[in-house]
This record gives sequence, C-alpha cells and structure tokens, in this order.
Amino acid sequence: NTPVIAIDGPTASGKGSVAARVASALGWHYLDSGAIYRVLALAGLQRGIALDDEASLAALAPKLEVRFDGEAIYIDGVEASLDVRRETTGNAASKIAVLPGVRTALMARLRAFRQAPGLVGDGRDMGSVVFPDAPLKIFLTASAEARAERRYKQLIEKGLAANLDSLVQELRERDARDASRPVAPLKPCEDAILLDTTPLTIDEAVAFVLQQAQT
Ligand code: CDP
Repeated sequence: NTPVIAIDGPTASGKGSVAARVASALGWHYLDSGAIYRVLALAGLQRGIALDDEASLAALAPKLEVRFDGEAIYIDGVEASLDVRRETTGNAASKIAVLPGVRTALMARLRAFRQAPGLVGDGRDMGSVVFPDAPLKIFLTASAEARAERRYKQLIEKGLAANLDSLVQELRERDARDASRPVAPLKPCEDAILLDTTPLTIDEAVAFVLQQAQT
C-alpha cells in the first residue's frame, strides 16, 4: 500500500509550501488538491457555468485534462498558472467545494495521484476523506493575520493584485465557509498531529513533518 502524508489546514497556513518541500525531500509525488478545485472553478467560469450549478460542474470534473509541471498548471493543454493562483479563483474554488456532487466527482482524480514510492497531499480533507488510511496526518494552523501576510507576499511576488485588509476579511469568510459546509468540513481529524506555524519558518515546519515521518 503506497504511503501517504496528508497535510491539511486553512487557507495560507503554509500547507502548500510545506507539502511540496516534504515531497521533494522524500522523492515522493506531490498533490496540491486545492489546485484541482481551483482548476474546476476556473474552467466552469470560462464556460459560463454558475458556481452553484452542481450538476454541470460535476459533469465537467472528469472531462478536464489537468497537467502539473513544477509550478505550472495546464488545463486542456493551455497554461493557466496565473489565473489558477488568483485570489478570486481561490474564492470561487471554495464556493464550488461546498457542493457534495463536485467533491464526489473529483475523488477518483485525487486518489489517482497515489503512486509509488509515496504521496504528499495537501488540502482540507486529505486525511479525513480522500486518504483516511494515510499513516501520517498533519494539520497546519496559523493566526489569520499571519496567514493574510503570507498570502499577500505570495500574490505580490507573482505580480498579482493584493490588498492586506481585504485579504484578512476574505480569509475569514473562506475559513467560515470551509468549516461550516456539510461535506468534508475543514477540521483536524482525530489522528492528525496539529502544528501551529505562526512562529515557524517554512524550513522549521518542513523539518517537523520530516521528523514525524521518520518516527
Ligand atoms: O491556497 P488556499 O489554501 O487559499 O486554497 P487552496 O488550497 O488552493 O483551495 C481552494 C479552495 O478549495 C479552498 O478554500 C477549499 O474550499 C477548497 N478545497 C477543498 O474543499 N478541499 C481540498 N482538499 C482542497 C481545497
């Protein structure tokens, strides 16, 4: 059974950076599950599908061809990395992520990333729903202010629009939506190890996860 490290947490908790680095340190595959939700939201918007149209979005989910190449993301062969990373796309992703039919439609696609020698997956429900048998589950948290600042820096570095005050507010709205949805709500599962990254650098968080992986 191919091993999985599940790294879940709220928006901008550092889970993406930490998971990618843990994967490369171990030589394992990396799954950015949020990117899959983002891709579906973006592709839906491009086709004029409403963000609450569960049936159309669920039907679109298996049809899209999604390819990751390092940081680059291709949808049906067209590079869409910048659009996928926009905060508006993240907010749209969180809206479609409340739809149970959408989550079910993406499940097979997410599980297909589990390949030898191992997978590090990050998201909201890697440990609770997608890979419940993962031998190591980590739940990352950080204060809303710390997360907003990280997201602000990330967006500015990519040359994308960002405003710190509205980021804090959107982040709180997104947390509330992710936590209160009926299916796969954002919360640590019972067997997850909690790590508050507010005072930690990415390297420190990565070292913590790698140490847990060795024990
Ligand atoms: O990077 P950030 O944490 O802002 O978002 P993301 O991980 O790219 O995910 C975007 C949205 O997709 C989240 O706000 C979640 O609502 C949703 N999502 C989810 O429901 N389940 C996952 N496994 C991953 C993302």
